[in-house]
Amino acid sequence: MKAVVAGASGGIGQPLSLLLKICPLIDELSLYDVVNTPGVAMDLSHISTPAKVTGFLPKDDGMKNAFTGADVVVIPAGIPRKPGMTRDDLFKINAGIVRDLIKGVAEHCPKAFVLIISNPVNSTVPIAAEVLKGAGVFDPKKLFGVTTLDVVRAETFVAAVTGAKDPSKCKIPVIGGHSGETIVPLFSQSEPKADIPEDKLNDLTYRVQFGGDEVVKAKEGAGSATLSMAFAGYRFAEKIIKAVNGESGIVETTYIYLPGVEGGDEIAKETGCDYFSVPVELGPEGAKKAHNVVSLANDYEKKLLEACYKGLKGNIEKGIEFVKNPP
Ligand code: NAI
Repeated sequence: MKAVVAGASGGIGQPLSLLLKICPLIDELSLYDVVNTPGVAMDLSHISTPAKVTGFLPKDDGMKNAFTGADVVVIPAGIPRKPGMTRDDLFKINAGIVRDLIKGVAEHCPKAFVLIISNPVNSTVPIAAEVLKGAGVFDPKKLFGVTTLDVVRAETFVAAVTGAKDPSKCKIPVIGGHSGETIVPLFSQSEPKADIPEDKLNDLTYRVQFGGDEVVKAKEGAGSATLSMAFAGYRFAEKIIKAVNGESGIVETTYIYLPGVEGGDEIAKETGCDYFSVPVELGPEGAKKAHNVVSLANDYEKKLLEACYKGLKGNIEKGIEFVKNPP
């Protein structure tokens, strides 16, 4: 199992690479970035776990050497938010970064599972899909927008309200997209049922939708979530790797191209969005089945979904346009 981190020297990239280095399921860990990867790779390589670590820069065919033979490519490359910025403000710079990295994937490891962390995820995943389509290697079962942090935050914030001892024990589908109002927590579908007092519902919903802002504000210009994102990115990557290794029954919420995945057509029809985050059953080939939790939403959640569809459609279109008619 060869894993690649593209953007490995960054705030997310470094702790994510550390977690992947200590994962016993990984044999080879390849770090790619435009700066500092030789140092980060050397540092990690002294850790006494099996994964062999190498670091590459763009020079000397670095991308080719980093990506060739990869089974999983995780992409946290690009600039993060500063206070006052929305994720969409990052589009100008990150769209091109993701496009170019995906061109590398298409060329050097077209069969790899691709996990996109770079924001705005609502648009960068459609960008990736268009680039892969253009290269004739798009497999919708293998392209994922990582929205796990929204789920992780929902688990944490709900436990803070209900008093649950282990936040990770409550499963909460957080669906839609990955920014502000496009993020829709379906507390009504939590398992076990979370007892959320009526007067706390609005605040809790807002906190899941805009939880990222709490971190951006607290970091005072030094960036956005990195450590919690590394945890979330690792949680998702590990699930993919376990599913590829044959473990069954793994379900994780992720942002996918619906028409390419079993069960997805029905959700695309209902939401009017081709890209959407829903709980997805994972198998050896990647996304096996999309679970339609959209239709289970209660009236309160249906209202949130209406706002989500509006914003998300625009974000998706913007990503597709960027590749079809480059600026
Ligand atoms: P950072 O600035 O600390 O790190 C980004 C890294 O990407 C840097 O090391 C930079 O050199 C590298 N990079 C830039 N251009 C590159 C290229 N062409 N090829 C390879 N590497 C390149 O940023 P941070 O905090 O790690 O965030 C990274 C991205 O993740 C941002 O877009 C941020 O918005 C996003 N993010 C996504 C979350 C999610 O839930 N999906 C949560 C938090 C952040």
